[in-house]
Amino acid sequence: MCESFTIFAHRGARGHAPENTLLAFSLAFDLGADAIEFDVQRSSDGQLVVIHDDTVDRTTNGHGYVRETPFEKLRELNAGVRWNTPQRIPTLAETLALVEARGGAMNLELKADSRGDALATAAIIESALVELNQPMRARLLLSSFELDAVAWLKSRLPWLRVGALFTGSQWRKEDMVSRALDLDAEAIHPNIRLILPELVERAHAARLRVNVWTANRRPTIRRLLALGVDGIFSDAPERVVIERARFAARETA
Ligand code: G3P
Ligand code: MG
Repeated sequence: MCESFTIFAHRGARGHAPENTLLAFSLAFDLGADAIEFDVQRSSDGQLVVIHDDTVDRTTNGHGYVRETPFEKLRELNAGVRWNTPQRIPTLAETLALVEARGGAMNLELKADSRGDALATAAIIESALVELNQPMRARLLLSSFELDAVAWLKSRLPWLRVGALFTGSQWRKEDMVSRALDLDAEAIHPNIRLILPELVERAHAARLRVNVWTANRRPTIRRLLALGVDGIFSDAPERVVIERARFAARETA
């Protein structure tokens, strides 16, 4: 197993707490995750907020598109409503502060919306990331399905570690690897349905890490560990913690 195998808590420990909230992020580190994964979008007035969907409808007590709602209105919503616990939609700044305080790592996923304006969000993200100190830069991995936005950010911030997100059966293994290399990415982030031994081999031969999303069942986690992937995104990071320890113990036995 790779020395620096990474356990990413998907949207925080979303199996145990409201996704993409400070509560879920804090719990993720309590459960032993190495990193949190979270999704970043912008409000109508250009503030960066951490939320997964285009709209606030599924995860909060509000309605409407994130990009059409002013920041102050987003902050009035309860992102813990499905879990019966009051939680605000976090800002990127709050999330960065939590990661810094906990000494963990992070995967910032830039989300596009259906209008395809990922570059506008990327420009705001750039202005936030440029302020990061050196230790925090090292702990950040940025990814997106919007590969043009990733390329733009990488051109603006050459120090930025980036991962290329892939989903959908149209992606052939050689195309994922070559696209990631074009981006000067350190990793590919394929959907678990795209994972085959040959993809892991080909990515590793190109010196790319392979971080896979999303694995929640223990047999699935074990299969991925046996395939030699470098990171797993999970809603239940504690399961990966246990399986990683078992796998490492077997390897050294
Ligand atoms: O970054 C991995 C994963 O989060 C991508 O899918 O839809 O959960 O953001 P999604
Ligand atoms: Mg995500």
